[in-house]
Amino acid sequence: MPTQNSKPAVLLTRAIFPEIVERLRAHFEVESNPDDASWDAAELARRLQGKSGVFTTGVERMDAALLAQCPMLKICANMTVGYNNFDLDAMTAAGVLGTNAPDVLTETTADFGFALLLATARRISESERFLRAGRWQRWSYDMFSGAEVHGTTLGIIGMGRIGQAIARRGAMGFGMQVVYHNRSRLDAAVEARCQARYVGKEELLRSADHVMLVLPYSSGVHHTIGAAELTLMKPSATLINIARGGIVDDAALATALRTKRIAAAGLDVYEGEPRVHPDLLEVPNVVLTPHIASATPGTRRAMADVAVDNLIGYLVHGKAVTPLNSAALEALRHG
Ligand code: DGY
Repeated sequence: MPTQNSKPAVLLTRAIFPEIVERLRAHFEVESNPDDASWDAAELARRLQGKSGVFTTGVERMDAALLAQCPMLKICANMTVGYNNFDLDAMTAAGVLGTNAPDVLTETTADFGFALLLATARRISESERFLRAGRWQRWSYDMFSGAEVHGTTLGIIGMGRIGQAIARRGAMGFGMQVVYHNRSRLDAAVEARCQARYVGKEELLRSADHVMLVLPYSSGVHHTIGAAELTLMKPSATLINIARGGIVDDAALATALRTKRIAAAGLDVYEGEPRVHPDLLEVPNVVLTPHIASATPGTRRAMADVAVDNLIGYLVHGKAVTPLNSAALEALRHG
């Protein structure tokens, strides 16, 4: 139990940069996980005993069952922008603040979205596998002929910060016509900056040569792309998912790729990851990466720093930097 003058205790659920652990140690009693062990919910609950804060990496499920076992917990600080591991209603009810790490990963993630689009459209992984297998005997005019990127139509579903950064790359870097679909239409000034035009989801799916998914996950957007939506897409189209697993019906996508209903897909996220649907592993026309869109040392460090800023901000100074449910918590406190 902390004494009156002792530092609050925080838990780091995963291995992280040593400098981040040091930053935390300056303010907190820190339990870290230097061996990067995997903890199930029971182990997480056990380690959270006596902790005021937890540094999370976007996958640790924070729900009513766990929170009921951790009465001292005040804040869960994700180092990711996505926070579908948080049951925010349950956290609010338990008096626990959730925070995420927006902004710092926007450009890096948009770069990766574009890399995945280029690799997918131009069949880079597929052709490299062919070469490495020693199967390249001679050049031919149609070998690994892929889809054009420049000057084509890019459809973006989810036009938050990352979607907008991708739109700018498409319009200004590749001369693409950019159409987008979003929960709500953007201001005219933002649309002009991104050179993007708002359309309905069906029009986007029918007209885009490349469809990029960048929307946050919630149960309301589960299987935004399923068999019916894949049927609307051009047979020559590519689909890129850098958003979250569950936004695409991976089984339906594998079928659409196998039957050439669409030309190709690039996926960084999966339903039930790190498991990947076995049918996706069998089709050649999909580029598969292990959830690395934000993975550069500078960006990952900046994301971790935001989580630390939130823990220090809230537990030491009483104010988090990027809170998710502070208004709901306030409303609850003031009845
Ligand atoms: C995020 O920040 O949500 C990313 O998916 C993690 O890389």
